[in-house]
Amino acid sequence: MIWFLRDRWHPLPERMERPVDVREIEQELVNSLTGRRFAHVLGTAMMAAGLAVRYGVDPDQAWLAGLLHDAVREWPLAKQLEQLGEESRSLDSWEITWAELVHGPAGACWAGNHYGIRDPAILEAIRFHTVGNPQMGLLAKIIFVADKAEPNRNYPGVETVRCLANSAIDSAMIACLEQSIRYILDQGILLHPLTVATRNQLLLTQKNIQKEE
Ligand SMILES: [Fe+2]
Ligand SMILES: [Fe+2]
Repeated sequence: MIWFLRDRWHPLPERMERPVDVREIEQELVNSLTGRRFAHVLGTAMMAAGLAVRYGVDPDQAWLAGLLHDAVREWPLAKQLEQLGEESRSLDSWEITWAELVHGPAGACWAGNHYGIRDPAILEAIRFHTVGNPQMGLLAKIIFVADKAEPNRNYPGVETVRCLANSAIDSAMIACLEQSIRYILDQGILLHPLTVATRNQLLLTQKNIQKEE
C-alpha cells in the first residue's frame, strides 16, 4: 500500500492551495538530504502512513508530513532562522540558538513557503515533532511517534514504543516523551517546557478516562 501511495500524484484540493507533487518532493529530499536522513524520513513516512490507516487519519497526509518533518534538519541554523522569518519571534531566545529546536517550526514554514502546503494538520505535525505540544492533534501524534519509532531507529525500548503505537497512540507518545526526558536529563541539557506539558496533559487525559470508566 505504501508504494501505491508513493506513486500517487496528490491533488488534495480541499486542503492545499495548489496541488502537491509528492514525487517532486521525494526527489528534492533525495538530492538535499544525506542518505541516512533520507532513509529516516522515508521510514517515518511509511510508519506514519500505516498508523494513519490504523487510527482513521488520511494516510496521504501522514505520508507527506512524514516526508517533510526533517526537510530542513540539515540546514545551518542561520538558514533555518531565515526561513522562519518573523515567526522566530515566537521562540524564546534560548530556543533560537539550537538547530534541534528550530528545525520543526522552520520546516513547517518551508513546507508552506516552498511547497504551498496549507493543511494545518500537516504543518502542526512538522512544527511540533521534536518537542511536542499539549494540543497536538492525531496526525501530529502519529508523526511524533513515527519519528521516534520508524524502522531505522534502534535504541533500548523502541520495540515497546512500536507495540504501543499500534494499540494506543497516547501511550506511545508518553513512552517517547519519557524516553526523551530521561535522555535530556542524562545529558544535562535544557528540557523544553512543551515536552513536560505534553507528557502531563496526556497523563491527565488518561487518568480522567480511567476515572470515568
Ligand atoms: Fe526532526
Ligand atoms: Fe526525524
